[in-house]
Amino acid sequence: MDDCVTIKKKHLQRPIFRLRCLVKQLEKGDINVVDLKKNIEYAASVLEAVYIDETRKLLDTEDELSDIQSDSVPLEVRDWLASTFTREMGIVKRRPEEKPKFRSIVHAVQAGIFVERMYRRTSSMVGLAYPAEVIVTFKIPVPNLISFAEALEVGYSKYKNPYHNLIHAADVTQTVHYIMIHTGIMHWLTELEILAMIFAAAVHDYEHTGTTNNFHIQTRSDVAILYNDRSVLENHHVSAAYRLMQEEEMNILANLTKDDWRELRSLVIEMVLSTDMSGHFQQIKTMRHTLQQTEGVDKAKAMSLILHAADISHPAKSWELHYRWTMALMEEFFRQGDKEAALGLQFSPLCDRKSTLVAQSQIGFIDFIVEPTFSLLTDSMEKIVMPLIEEASKSESPAFGTPSQNSLGAVSNAEAQRRPSFKSTSDGGTHTENSLATVDLTSFKDNLMKIIQANKERWKELAVEEELVKNVGEQEKDQSRNSTDAQLQEETTRIQNESSQGSDGTTCPPRSIVLQVVSFDTPLSDESNSEKCTNSDPNQKDLTDAQQETQNTDPLNGEPKHCKKSEDSVKATEKEALIQN
Ligand code: CMP
Ligand code: MG
Ligand code: ZN
Repeated sequence: MDDCVTIKKKHLQRPIFRLRCLVKQLEKGDINVVDLKKNIEYAASVLEAVYIDETRKLLDTEDELSDIQSDSVPLEVRDWLASTFTREMGIVKRRPEEKPKFRSIVHAVQAGIFVERMYRRTSSMVGLAYPAEVIVTFKIPVPNLISFAEALEVGYSKYKNPYHNLIHAADVTQTVHYIMIHTGIMHWLTELEILAMIFAAAVHDYEHTGTTNNFHIQTRSDVAILYNDRSVLENHHVSAAYRLMQEEEMNILANLTKDDWRELRSLVIEMVLSTDMSGHFQQIKTMRHTLQQTEGVDKAKAMSLILHAADISHPAKSWELHYRWTMALMEEFFRQGDKEAALGLQFSPLCDRKSTLVAQSQIGFIDFIVEPTFSLLTDSMEKIVMPLIEEASKSESPAFGTPSQNSLGAVSNAEAQRRPSFKSTSDGGTHTENSLATVDLTSFKDNLMKIIQANKERWKELAVEEELVKNVGEQEKDQSRNSTDAQLQEETTRIQNESSQGSDGTTCPPRSIVLQVVSFDTPLSDESNSEKCTNSDPNQKDLTDAQQETQNTDPLNGEPKHCKKSEDSVKATEKEALIQN
């Protein structure tokens, strides 16, 4: 008891100490029954509170995975969302009485500067004219950069994927770049972090096999074995890209200090691993939670969100682009489905080319994945950038370029020194290129949301037709089954009554949905129509307006190409395809 008395009161508040004291008291035989009872009751109440809290957390998780309810979303789409965007391994098999898991998703959901200069001043790898800052700041050896970029292109083309190819890498890199400039987040990041963002985007799907992590796991591929079924592809993307840089002539990071090299590597690994869609809901939940706290936002988490958002950003781009990317992805999924069928495996969600509801899945993808991600992205950017804007506008710095808080709210001199410098306009005025003063987060958000909504409406139109085709198909299937049954019945009777003769119970194959697969072998181009791919609403800015090059490339075959089909002709093709048998 004496020992216990000396223990500070605050420690006694902790049940573990109380219980230990009780044990000591019991050992010494120095026991007061009233005290003992009081202490045990206290410990029990604490344990009970912990238990309730933990159970609630568990139930929350359970709820996320067990109560997906939305009449507007077809079962296949629910299954796909649940199986792809949570850490559930393998193909989701729904027991008959089991409810689809959807509320969970609703809850969970609710729940370079230097490169910029590089892009601006160099239009191609030929005739290189890198700005002096690039060479001086990071000392990236230009020949190494060329070799590395070429090797990346080779790796991205290895499996001839319709979607996960070098154009996707360029698209995501461009989008990350756009987000950094237009949200003003680049003013919060150091140059090293900006390099990490661009680098991570460029390598994020390197040597993608055109098949999903789940396919690797199911087929026990070498990479699945190597990475123990955990973020198989994502681990490979980073690892293989770093392996390239082990070759001296491709080592673009050769001149980084040890510390910078390590910091960059750590950021790149975290960002690329966070592109594994099975961590999507957890990532959103964690970031939402962070936003509710008063502390600063963790830089690696914010950067990961930017990359993740850029990775799923095509629904926030013009319909033509979004549609084409979607079709490219669907074709990639279908090719996986073909492999699954050949291997006698069950189709993964969205991989059966005969029955996948493309339009409906896109509505689900936009509603439950894309919108919440972009809403979180803009909220996060607001939380980080608004204070910078306020601070800069109050400060005397005409360029709005005063160094600001780092991730944890402190300003370090080293960081301040590494910050991008701001160029004044030639008239020496207060307006600087891409400065915080030009950031308009409200328009950024409104524009994105407008485009996402417009794309969703387009899918809704297509979903009606998709549903019709599906119903016709099912009716035909039923009729065909009924008539086959009747024929069989008739035939059986005939065989029973007459001599045995072969039956000819031919059935019409069910009408399958071949939805909008717009000429994968013949890319979406029409020589007679040379219109450029632009937004239907010229006032709407999408994520592509920063750089047109990516927009005018063909995601289907990886060749830069102008988007030559007008919106209407694309639509006509969709409709044709929709009613195709
Ligand atoms: P990846 O680019 O590796 O990472 C993001 C993933 O989101 C992408 O692979 C696809 O699996 C998925 N994705 C992107 N766009 C769509 C879409 N329109 N519909 C369904 N899934 C998508
Ligand atoms: Mg990926
Ligand atoms: Zn990607």
